[in-house]
Amino acid sequence: MPRHIFVTTALPYANGNFHIGHIMEYIQADIWVRFQRMMGHTVDFCGADDTHGAPIMIAAEKAGVTPQQFVADIAAGRKPYLDGFHIQFDNWHSTDAPENHELAQSIYRALRDNSEGSLIEARSIEQFYDPQKGMFLPDRFIKGECPRCHGKDQYGDNCEECGAVYAPTELINPYSALSGAKPELKTSEHFFFKLSDPRCVAFLTEWTQDGKLQPEVANKIKEWFTTRSNPDGSTSTGLGDWDISRDAPYFGIEIPDAPGKYFYVWLDAPIGYLASLKNLCTRRGVDFDAYLANPALEQYHFIGKDIVTFHTLFWPATLKFSGRKVPSNIFVHGFLTVNNGEKMSKSRGTGLDPLKYLKLGMNPEWLRYYLAAKLSGRNEDIDFNADDFMARVNADLIGKYVNIASRAAGFLTKRFGGQLGPVPEDGAALLHDLREARHNIEQLYEARETAKALKDTMLLADRVNAYVDLHKPWDLAKHPEQSAQLQGVCTVLIKAFRILTCYLKPVLPALAAQVERFMNTPPLTFASIVQPLPAGHVIDPYQHLMQRVDEKQLDALFEPPAQVEQAQVATNNEVKKKTPAPATPVDPSAPGGEAVAPTISIDDFAKVDLRIAKIVACQAVAGSTKLLQLTLDAGEQDEVGQPKTRNVFSGIASLYQPEQLVGKLTVLVANLAPRKMKFGLSEGMVLAASHADEKSHPGIYVLEPSAGATPGLRIR
Ligand code: MSP
Ligand code: ZN
Repeated sequence: MPRHIFVTTALPYANGNFHIGHIMEYIQADIWVRFQRMMGHTVDFCGADDTHGAPIMIAAEKAGVTPQQFVADIAAGRKPYLDGFHIQFDNWHSTDAPENHELAQSIYRALRDNSEGSLIEARSIEQFYDPQKGMFLPDRFIKGECPRCHGKDQYGDNCEECGAVYAPTELINPYSALSGAKPELKTSEHFFFKLSDPRCVAFLTEWTQDGKLQPEVANKIKEWFTTRSNPDGSTSTGLGDWDISRDAPYFGIEIPDAPGKYFYVWLDAPIGYLASLKNLCTRRGVDFDAYLANPALEQYHFIGKDIVTFHTLFWPATLKFSGRKVPSNIFVHGFLTVNNGEKMSKSRGTGLDPLKYLKLGMNPEWLRYYLAAKLSGRNEDIDFNADDFMARVNADLIGKYVNIASRAAGFLTKRFGGQLGPVPEDGAALLHDLREARHNIEQLYEARETAKALKDTMLLADRVNAYVDLHKPWDLAKHPEQSAQLQGVCTVLIKAFRILTCYLKPVLPALAAQVERFMNTPPLTFASIVQPLPAGHVIDPYQHLMQRVDEKQLDALFEPPAQVEQAQVATNNEVKKKTPAPATPVDPSAPGGEAVAPTISIDDFAKVDLRIAKIVACQAVAGSTKLLQLTLDAGEQDEVGQPKTRNVFSGIASLYQPEQLVGKLTVLVANLAPRKMKFGLSEGMVLAASHADEKSHPGIYVLEPSAGATPGLRIR
């Protein structure tokens, strides 16, 4: 029976680009999805950006753009990663999309108006307030010691060390991460989801302990039902209620009938799974409610071990008590570390930059294979080790797998016009065993035991290579009278290669597509294994399938970013001082504190249209200490021939008073895409110089042309 499956990965925070931990999660899910499709099942695979919450709001404010623009900029950068690693989402959406606003509000109303008694309760709570900043402090901006495990510097909502979820007021020795001030308690009305309600407890006990979850995950959850820490250090039993509201200012979804109150980001984030699915349904002309009403629909979420509570307690309860379908299961993976096991920061990752990997021309399927060869169905951490990576990929993919085809196909093409012949007896036995392995390998993929599936596949490849060594086609080729044997042996090898390709295809989709082309066979599925190529089938000449991993590429991949790429381009919203990312140390020996950027061609340079512009007006920007608003004359005219000026925001307020700049000439990047900022539209950027290490070398210097230059002249 074909299954219908809805799959998601966790929605990444839209405050940064993907790091290798995200890519690992997507690769794990993508392999599972491709496997299901190869089994003939229907899968809809959805992702989205998690856009809301105080951290993104604060980051946008710092960057001087609206939160909407901020998350749009991040979303615009997603595609190269996903395409680059062959991660085939059917839809990528946003938790700020209209579908999510509607769904979150309707789910909330259903919880509040539950016919067996409301599950929402308003309560006055004492909340931390930053007296220096004049705002209620979001959980993520209060730090302190975890009340459960006493881990230091943990966030106000949950502990990254032990996974505890708590209220910020439970932290020991709290401080404001925005100002460092000791926060004060102030009263505010919040809404709570009553997880302590006996209906919730009964449902969640059953849902989490009925055997579907990974045992190590279910055991961990059990603890949360029994112990919980209180602000005063004591512990209570049972599930605590969940605070789902936040006060304005907040970037999020408004709570119906409660002006100035917004949903806490974790209430609307998983609803984003449904919003993305709904958007996909709309695009396809499918009725979303009917889609979800299908009782046979299965729903799975791939997530990391740090967000288990949200997905196994809050999310199923939210769905259940708003009268919706609950997830079929949650698939939890551990964390990826890079090289020496160094833990990567949740927000900035470490070591292995996925885009750099692709830019270096490294094959994405090497990484897919390597990660799959380490991943299991258990919640356990895995490590990316550069030496291990090279050894594994070269030994398995090139040495064991690709070599089978390259050895056999040449003889078939040269001697037999690419035609397959009859299969000799010992070859038939080998092929039989290869086909029989299918049942086991299918089960392993189904259980996300990709490491075992690949290990078994490589053991089969070993057997095929043993068959090669036994029959030595290169010797057979020397004797014309053994031509039939040669064709028979090579036929076995090609057929074996096709079966191995089926087993590897969920992991290596692009390589499999190349194999399908050269073998002249329709897209391989698991059913293809029992539909062998007939004698007389003709294959195309062999084309090189995969390169070996080159050590030089790995060296370049892990070279400190300062040497390879110091491409910290100033954004057009402000002339940004170069603040190198933590992984990009300032190089004090280099001019201006940073190495010269990689070489570009004259054509690259010609893309940038620089013009002389006159600063005709300049003013401070209310609400920003960094920005000045410039009105620039770059010699432009509107359609009716009137002089036209441009509005540009520039981050130069630290060194210039507005009146100092009026009347001066400067340089404008005239063809930069306009950018919507919190304060208005910025229509270009002015050039200024600054040191890479802004702390020890403060100062930012606007460029001025020599006397005689006039507005509109191009700089070349
Ligand atoms: N926005 C939330 C998820 C909301 S889901 C409705 C979030 N975002 S995240 O960007 O921090 O993480 C997204 C996913 O990446 C999570 O599943 C997380 O566990 C995973 N990973 C983050 N770092 C990781 C590694 N180092 N290794 C593997 N996965 C990692 O949490
Ligand atoms: Zn802890």
